[in-house]
Amino acid sequence: MINRRTFFTQAALSISLIALPKLVQAGSTIRRYQLTANTGSASFSEDGKQTSLWLYNNSTPGPLLKARKGEVLEVEFINKLDQPTTIHWHGIRNLNEMDGVPDLTQAAVEPGDKFTYWFPVNDAGTFWYHSHNKSWEQVARGLYGALIVLDDDETFEDDRDHLIVADDWLLDENVQIDSASFGSLGHWSHGGRLGNTLTINGAFMPTIEIAAMGQVRLRLLNTTNARILSFALNDGLPMKVVSVDGSPCKTFEVEKVTISPAQRVDVVVEDCAQLSRLFEISTGTRLEAAGFNPTKKKTSQQRVVYNKPTYYNQVDNVNARLIEIHMQGGAMGNLASALFEGEERSLRDLAMNESKLWAFNGQVGGYNVNLADVNLGDIISLRVWNDSAWPHAMHLHGHHFWVESEEFGQEEKALLRDTYLMQPGEKKDLVFVADNPGLWLFHCHMLEHNAAGMGGVISVS
Ligand code: C2O
Ligand code: CU
Repeated sequence: MINRRTFFTQAALSISLIALPKLVQAGSTIRRYQLTANTGSASFSEDGKQTSLWLYNNSTPGPLLKARKGEVLEVEFINKLDQPTTIHWHGIRNLNEMDGVPDLTQAAVEPGDKFTYWFPVNDAGTFWYHSHNKSWEQVARGLYGALIVLDDDETFEDDRDHLIVADDWLLDENVQIDSASFGSLGHWSHGGRLGNTLTINGAFMPTIEIAAMGQVRLRLLNTTNARILSFALNDGLPMKVVSVDGSPCKTFEVEKVTISPAQRVDVVVEDCAQLSRLFEISTGTRLEAAGFNPTKKKTSQQRVVYNKPTYYNQVDNVNARLIEIHMQGGAMGNLASALFEGEERSLRDLAMNESKLWAFNGQVGGYNVNLADVNLGDIISLRVWNDSAWPHAMHLHGHHFWVESEEFGQEEKALLRDTYLMQPGEKKDLVFVADNPGLWLFHCHMLEHNAAGMGGVISVS
C-alpha cells in the first residue's frame, strides 16, 4: 500500500523535475482553451423544460476541443462548483502530472480555484475529457466533453466528420437529475447507475445534417456512467470501423457497434445518401437515437484513410511480465470478505459501512492501492479475470494495451484499446509497453464500480 502522503511527494517531485521537453516537439503550436465547471442547464424534452446540470462552459457535452497531432494543448480550468474537481484526459498518453486524478497525480482543484492543464498531444484520434473526482456524480451531472486530435491529413472544419456523443441520464418525473439515487448500494453492487433518457450530442433524438452523398465518419463515444450501448444504422447499413479508442485499426465492416462506457469507435459510412437513422439496440428494441438529414450542399472532398498504423505495434507477450488481477465482488458474486485498509472484513460489513463491494486479488481497491511496480520500458501483461456476475469496462490510464478482443463477433481480433469491456467469467491478457512513467490508475469505468473498490494503481518508473 502506498499512502497518500507518498503520493503527494511523488507528484510534487515530478512537477518540479518537469520532464516535458522530450515529449514536446520543438516549435510546437500551443492550442489554448478555457474550461469553466459550473452549474448550468439544458433541455432534453420537446417542451423545452430545463434540466439542471453541472457543465463545462454551460454546454452539454462540454465544448469540443480540437488540436492537431504534435501540438501542445493548454487548458485553463476554473472550478466554479461548490466542490473540488479535476479533469482527466481519457485516452491521452499523458504526462502523469496532467492526468487529473485527485490525490494521485494532483490535488483536486478547490471551489474558486484554477488549474492549467498543459500537455502535448502526440496521438491523433477521438478522446474525451471528464471529471475524475466523485465522477459517479460529477460525470452523471454532465461534466464531460470530447477531444479530437487531428492527424496530418485531416482538417479542422470537415463537414464529413461527425461526433456522436451518447449519454443516458437518470431523470426523475420533474425532468431533473435523480439525485436521491446517488450512492445507491443497488447501483453500486449491480450494473451501475443506468439512465432512462438517451441523448446524442446533448439532445434528445436530434437530427444531424450530413453531406448529400459520399463518405461520412461517425465518431461514436459513450459517456454514460455504466450503460453498455449498441448502435446500428437504418437498413443494416454497414459501418467500416477505422479506429477504436482513438487508435487506428485494421479496417473491418460491421452492422452493429457495441460501446462500453468511455470507449470510442470511429466508423465510416461509404454512401451517406442512404443514411437516415441511428438506432440504439442494446435493450433488444430498436430505440431511435438520432436522425440524419443528407442535405448539405457544400461538403469537403476529404476522404478517410483506411488501415493507418496503430499507435504502436502489437507486442509479443511471451517475454511480458505477468500481473494477475482477479476481480471479484458485487451482487451474486463469490466474494465473502476482502482486505480493506489493512483489515479483513466481510463483504456485508464493507457494503453497509464503507460502500465497498469489489476487490482485486482479495483487496478492496482505491487510488491508494498499489497493484504493481513495474520498470519503465517493460512489457506488461495484465491477466485480468472477471470472476463476477457483471460486465466491467476496464480502463488503463497513460497507456494503450493490446487485447485479443472477441467483441466484434466470435473471432478474436487484436485491438489496441484504452478501455476493454469484459464479460462475466472472461479472462483476458491486456498487454502493453510500460513506456510512460508515473502512477497510473487501472479501474472499471462503470463509475459506481470504481468508487466501490474496482481500481488500483500501477506504478511505472
Ligand atoms: Cu475515463 Cu480513470 O477514467
Ligand atoms: Cu465494473
